[in-house]
Amino acid sequence: MNLNLVNKTVLVTGGSKGIGKGIAAALAAEGASVIICGRGEEALHEAEKEIKQEGGNILAIKADLSEQEDVDHLISSIIERYETIDILINNAGVVSGFDDFETLQIEDWQKLFDVNLFGTVRVTKAVIPYMKKAGYGRIINISSESGVQPDAFMPHYNASKAALINFTKSLSKAYAKNGILVNTISPAFIMTPLLETVLKESAQKQNMTFDEAVQEFLLNHRPHIEVKRPGTVEEVASAVLYLVSDNASFINGVNLRVDGGSVASQ
Ligand SMILES: NC(=O)c1ccc[n+]([C@@H]2O[C@H](COP(=O)([O-])OP(=O)(O)OC[C@H]3O[C@@H](n4cnc5c(N)ncnc54)[C@H](OP(=O)(O)O)[C@@H]3O)[C@@H](O)[C@H]2O)c1
Repeated sequence: MNLNLVNKTVLVTGGSKGIGKGIAAALAAEGASVIICGRGEEALHEAEKEIKQEGGNILAIKADLSEQEDVDHLISSIIERYETIDILINNAGVVSGFDDFETLQIEDWQKLFDVNLFGTVRVTKAVIPYMKKAGYGRIINISSESGVQPDAFMPHYNASKAALINFTKSLSKAYAKNGILVNTISPAFIMTPLLETVLKESAQKQNMTFDEAVQEFLLNHRPHIEVKRPGTVEEVASAVLYLVSDNASFINGVNLRVDGGSVASQ
């Protein structure tokens, strides 16, 4: 299947680790020019090196999306080099542990929203004029199953992810006439290096094997994943490849769940 992504300019926010890194690698393997950003320089350059070694066209730019100045610098650096941004993957996001509502302070809500929602808004606001000018654009917002099926804990995270799904819908209605399609992808329990480390520690503490710790996590925290395993970064990346390709040219405003059937409703 020809995805027609060769030479497309793509920004993957939070492309230095986990799901974002997998998305960046998959897009680079399809011949896109990929820009990744994140706060930590070491992880950024490690990801850049790895993707380059695979023959990918990749550029890493340090940026904290909770800082407007960093976002301005990120977008102007990309425009200076590539002239436009065809595809934007709003992936960067933070989680802050299994906090309950009463433990969380207003500052925790503000800090998390500043990345998960406002970081996405800042980047999107800066990119839209270039997509409008080109009469073409694809935007994917990475939400979560928690955006429609929240747990009792992390209400700030869950609310930020629900907001992203709603934000997608508004933009999809506003910009389709400009050739810009906007969709959400909502993963559930994807095995990233970070989660792998957490589960390895949990296995050690509970004197379990790694597989037992994964099954314990599924049972207690993600009992609705019907395929009874975590998803992979590649499984999220392949959904992204499809949605940003010409094969999905009539798909706009959807929330595509990559969640092994976890969300209970239709
Ligand atoms: N893994 C899952 O099971 C899962 C499930 C559902 C949804 N998601 C969503 O998928 C996305 C990626 O998650 P992940 O598990 O791959 O997380 P991860 O491994 O922690 O990676 C997060 C990425 O975002 C970057 N980032 C964080 N804060 C940032 C900021 N202020 N400015 C710029 N970049 C920032 C990180 O780099 P730095 O830390 O260096 O800045 C990193 O590159 C998130 O939006 C998450 O909510 C994940």
